[in-house]
Amino acid sequence: MRILALGDIVGHVAIDYLAEKLWAFRAQNKIDFCVANGENATEIRGISAADAEAILGTGVDLITLGNHAFGMKDIYSYLDANEHCIIRPANYPTDAPGVGYTIFGVNNWRVLCINVSGRVYLDPLASPFDTVDRILDREAGRYDVALLDIHAEATSEKLAIGRYFDGRVQVMFGTHTHVPTADEQVLPLGSGYITDLGMCGPQNGILGTDADAVIHRFRTMMPTRFSVADGPVSAQGVIFDVDEGAGKVRKVTRVSF
Ligand SMILES: [Fe+2]
Repeated sequence: MRILALGDIVGHVAIDYLAEKLWAFRAQNKIDFCVANGENATEIRGISAADAEAILGTGVDLITLGNHAFGMKDIYSYLDANEHCIIRPANYPTDAPGVGYTIFGVNNWRVLCINVSGRVYLDPLASPFDTVDRILDREAGRYDVALLDIHAEATSEKLAIGRYFDGRVQVMFGTHTHVPTADEQVLPLGSGYITDLGMCGPQNGILGTDADAVIHRFRTMMPTRFSVADGPVSAQGVIFDVDEGAGKVRKVTRVSF
């Protein structure tokens, strides 16, 4: 099974870009399942129901989220109504809209897909370690392959989560920081891992945001309205080549298109 994981989709320009390119990329690379982080899709302020629908129309099978999951009000009811194809971090309080994991059917295999948030420089949510441990226990026997989007700021926290779940969650990738890391690897017990996928968005700004606004914010420390950067768009991510029968990943390959 070949799984494509795409970094944070930043703005409508990135949705339009994926609509143009993703189906062809999937076909060329024999992708069976595509997951993308969508929490910055609505001009860096969360994700609206309409933009979630649009992303799912581009060839993304499952949307994961993060600290901006609840930025747009109309996503609340959409999350509850579409638990099979959009998930938010599982370590939010139980009253939060939506769910933190789902089981997706891919080529007759069951893929348990989990989204979790780190806690370093982010909201003080429940432990990502304990949260994922509980989900794996609860769903034991109901899945063949497990996948985890670790939406976190600190590379150390992402690596700690990756190493902790090595051999139990086969496909693991970090999101949120928008800069791809060069540490794609198969961990000692057979899980595929990368600390950050990068992003799908305009590459000339700062993390997809207009550079002048970000520089103004850092220089003056004044409240600043951010907007999506101009310029050429590209998509960054990773392909996991999964041996689903053995429960291991053969290869992790960084991709950009
Ligand atoms: Fe984020």
